[in-house]
Amino acid sequence: MSEDPLAWSRDFTPVLRSLAEEYGDDQPLDGYTVAVASHLETKTGVFVETLHAAGARLLVSGSEPYSTRGPVVEALSQVDGIETYVEAGMREEAWEAGQHELLEQGPDLILDDGCELIAKVHDEHPEVAREVVGGGEQTTAGIRRLEAMDDEGMLEFPVYGVNDTPMKNHFDNVHGTGESSLSNVMLTTNAMLAGKTVVVAGYGYCGRGIARKARGLGADTVVTEVDPRKALEAVMDGHRVAPMAEAAAEADYVLSATGSRDVVRAEHLDALPDGVILANAGHFDVEIDVDALESAAERVTEPKEGVTRYHLPDGPRVNLLAEGRLINLTGPYSQGHPAEVMDTTFAMMFEAARDLATGDRDLGPGLYQVPDRLDRAVARRKLDDMGVAIDEMTDRQREYYEDWRLEGSAF
Ligand code: NAI
Repeated sequence: MSEDPLAWSRDFTPVLRSLAEEYGDDQPLDGYTVAVASHLETKTGVFVETLHAAGARLLVSGSEPYSTRGPVVEALSQVDGIETYVEAGMREEAWEAGQHELLEQGPDLILDDGCELIAKVHDEHPEVAREVVGGGEQTTAGIRRLEAMDDEGMLEFPVYGVNDTPMKNHFDNVHGTGESSLSNVMLTTNAMLAGKTVVVAGYGYCGRGIARKARGLGADTVVTEVDPRKALEAVMDGHRVAPMAEAAAEADYVLSATGSRDVVRAEHLDALPDGVILANAGHFDVEIDVDALESAAERVTEPKEGVTRYHLPDGPRVNLLAEGRLINLTGPYSQGHPAEVMDTTFAMMFEAARDLATGDRDLGPGLYQVPDRLDRAVARRKLDDMGVAIDEMTDRQREYYEDWRLEGSAF
C-alpha cells in the first residue's frame, strides 16, 4: 500500500475530482454535518474527501462490519473535520455501537448504504431524526427498507433513492457488481469459468451483469428467477432459465444476487454436484443458507483461503466462498467495485446531498426520486472525462419532441 491509501482510487475517480474542484470555492455543504455509511474502502474514502472539500463536517461509518479497510480509516481520521466511527476487524456489536455513537452527534444529512443509519436513527434516536434535513440511499436493499418505512408513514425527513437512478443501477449494479463478483470468484478459486455451468440467481441489475459477463467469459449460464418478466428477459437474452432445484443439479458455480434470503437452502443441497462453488453477490450474508450447510455437513474444512468446504455425508463437497458474505467486498482478494463505477455512484450521492442542502425544492418527509437533471449532469461529466462527444438536438428536433400535436409530422 502506498503512503496515501486513497491515491490510486483518486486517479480513477475523475468525476469526484471535478466535483471537489467545482465546489471547493463555493462550499455548498459548509455548516452541514454529513453522516456517511458505506463499505469503508478506498473509493468511499475519496467520496468522503469530496464531501469534505465541499465544506461538510463528516461522520463516517461502514455499511456493514466486514468490508472496512484499516488504512482508509486511519487516513480519514487524520483529516480535520472527518470523524470515523468504525475500525477494520470490528465484530457486529462494536460496529452497531459505533453507528449509535455517530448518530448521537446529530447529523444534518445521512448518506446511507443499506438503510442502516436511517433505520437506526428512526428506531432508536427519534429526537435526532426529527432534526435531520435529508438523506440519500445507494443500494437496492436499502431502498426496499425505505419503501416499507415510507408506506408506514414513519420517515421524518426526505430521502433521495439514489440507487434507482440510471446513473447508479445501470452502471454500478450491472457492471460494477458483475465484474468485481466474477473477478473475485476467479481469484479466490483460481478456477476457470470458460466451459463451466454458472447458475445466477436473480436477473435484476446485478444478476444480469453477472450472467452476461460470465457468458462473455465462455460459461454456459442458467438463470433462476421468481419474477416472470425478468425470467422472460433472461430467456430472450439467451440464457437458460430453470427453478433452483433443477439448476442446482448441473451447477459448477451458483452466484446469488436476489436481495432475498435462502436462495440456496437445505432442499437444494443433495442435488448439488460434487465440488460446486457457491458465492453471494446480493444481500449481506443471507442469500445462501449457511446454517443449513453447517447442519448438513459431517465435516467442514478450508481447502484454500476464502473457501469453506462442507462435506455432506454420502453427498457432494460444497465450496462456499467468503462465508456466504458479499464475494466482491469481503473475500480475501476483494477490493469492491472498480473505482470508475463508484465514481459515478458517489457523484450521484454527492449531488443528492448538495441538492438537499441547497436546492429550492420544498420536500416533506418521504422517499423521492433524484431529479433527472442531476443524473444527466453526472453522465455528462463522465462522458466529458472520457472524451466522448454526443449530438445536441437541433431546434427543430426539440420543437418536434415538445409538440404533442406532432404538427411537423408527415401524416
Ligand atoms: P433487483 O431488484 O434489480 O434484482 C433482484 C432480482 O432477484 C429480481 O429480479 C427478483 O425478481 C429476483 N429474485 C428475488 N427473489 C428471488 C429468488 N428467491 N430466486 C431467484 N430470483 C429472485 O436488485 P439488484 O439491483 O440486482 O440487487 C440485488 C441485490 O444485490 C440487492 O440485495 C442489492 O442490495 C445487492 N447489491 C450488491 C452489490 C455488491 O456490491 N455485491 C452492489 C449492488 C447491489
